[in-house]
Amino acid sequence: MVSMEVMDAISNRRSIRKYQDKPVPEETVLKIVEAGVRAPCGCSLQKYSIIWVKDEEKRKILWESCRKYPFILEAPVTLAICADLRNLLRMIYTSENTPSIDNEVNLISIKHKFKAIFDAGLVAENMTIAAESFGLGSVFIGSAFANLNVIETLNLPTGVFPLCLLCIGYPDEDPSIRPRLPLHSVLFIDEYKDLTKEKIEDAAQNMNADARVTGNTVWIKHAKRKLSTDAETERKLKLAFIKTGFLSNENIDTYVNVKIKE
Ligand SMILES: Cc1cc2nc3c(=O)[nH]c(=O)nc-3n(C[C@H](O)[C@H](O)[C@H](O)COP(=O)(O)O)c2cc1C
Repeated sequence: MVSMEVMDAISNRRSIRKYQDKPVPEETVLKIVEAGVRAPCGCSLQKYSIIWVKDEEKRKILWESCRKYPFILEAPVTLAICADLRNLLRMIYTSENTPSIDNEVNLISIKHKFKAIFDAGLVAENMTIAAESFGLGSVFIGSAFANLNVIETLNLPTGVFPLCLLCIGYPDEDPSIRPRLPLHSVLFIDEYKDLTKEKIEDAAQNMNADARVTGNTVWIKHAKRKLSTDAETERKLKLAFIKTGFLSNENIDTYVNVKIKE
């Protein structure tokens, strides 16, 4: 059975960056979050937390810390989506001789840390679709990812890693639907394939149709700019990963000789 409502909500969704000055009822927000937590989750462990940021001071700090996008302040609802291993560990270790949770976080496999990030991403996407179904618009703020100011402002302890903000509100703009890469450049049968020159050109042309993404209509330039980094940014990112216990401080070179197949 195909639900047209669900397909419509998915196909018509686009990021909204301008919101009406109109509050979203609390029960609607709670329904959106409920839809979020209905997302599938690895091992049925729900390794995430959502922080609804209502405090005006904190919202202002988030705005300052996340590139000062005006819509962070304008959106009536701001949710911070975090991967969270901490509360799960606290549920596991309830006895008197509870070990140090910070230490336990560090001992958790990197597999579960990545899976926690995956779980939280699924929650995030479910919430955008649910928001759409209530006639609301939304946008993610990626600069909250591993952001040290966000960690401090929201008091995120070891085991809790900030992924993004999700701003939600009634739309005050009607942007067009953004293009996507053609299916032939993201869907493969049976094995992975490097894209051919023709497919790359076709894909880029498809994306160039959206001048807003790039500001200069050349999507590849936009992609290159977005992927570039610098030592200071990398240092801060690494610090956030270590601070939250999502990356151990040991030398990654330890693992380079691991054999995949005998
Ligand atoms: C993880 C993530 C982070 C994002 N961060 C930002 C952001 O910081 N600022 C912004 O304006 N849009 C942000 N977006 C929205 C994307 O720009 C948008 O989803 C993309 O351009 C496709 O457009 P559409 O959502 O309208 O289809 C983010 C989206 C994702 C999934």
